[in-house]
Amino acid sequence: MSERTGKKKWEPKIIAFFCNWCTYTAADLAGVSRLKYAPNVKVIRLMCSGRVDPQFILQSLASGADGVLIGGCHPGDCHYSEGNYKMLRRFRLLQRVLESMGIEKERVRLEWISASEGEKVKTVINDMVETISKLGPLGLPGSISMFDEDLTEIKHTNKEVLEHA
Ligand code: FES
Repeated sequence: MSERTGKKKWEPKIIAFFCNWCTYTAADLAGVSRLKYAPNVKVIRLMCSGRVDPQFILQSLASGADGVLIGGCHPGDCHYSEGNYKMLRRFRLLQRVLESMGIEKERVRLEWISASEGEKVKTVINDMVETISKLGPLGLPGSISMFDEDLTEIKHTNKEVLEHA
């Protein structure tokens, strides 16, 4: 809370999808080892980074998240053999989609973090919070409602055109 204005200071909201076998365990280790990382991250545990559908990421951003972090096993270490490679391919594609939508690609980050790398979880989360703080709020829910208004207008115009055809 700002003392001068009485308004609450904006803090980035980050959703993290962590693989159960590596990054989630590393985040647990970081907690047990009392390695302090920013509290801005809400962690969702999945069995493999390959389970992260691009839809989950877009939905997170559309629901008000300012950034999304995905954590998976190092290449060659995925318990389901190729889940992390699948995630990497989707991630690269998604970055292009986000850029075409005018969303900074730094808002979505993919990291390989093994179960023993508690320190890396801390570093990555703190670094991501700093990056997103510099970028500012994404505000996608507001932009999406603007798209909705455009769509309603297009539908209305189409209806009028069809009625007079
Ligand atoms: S099991 Fe961890 S990324 Fe696949």
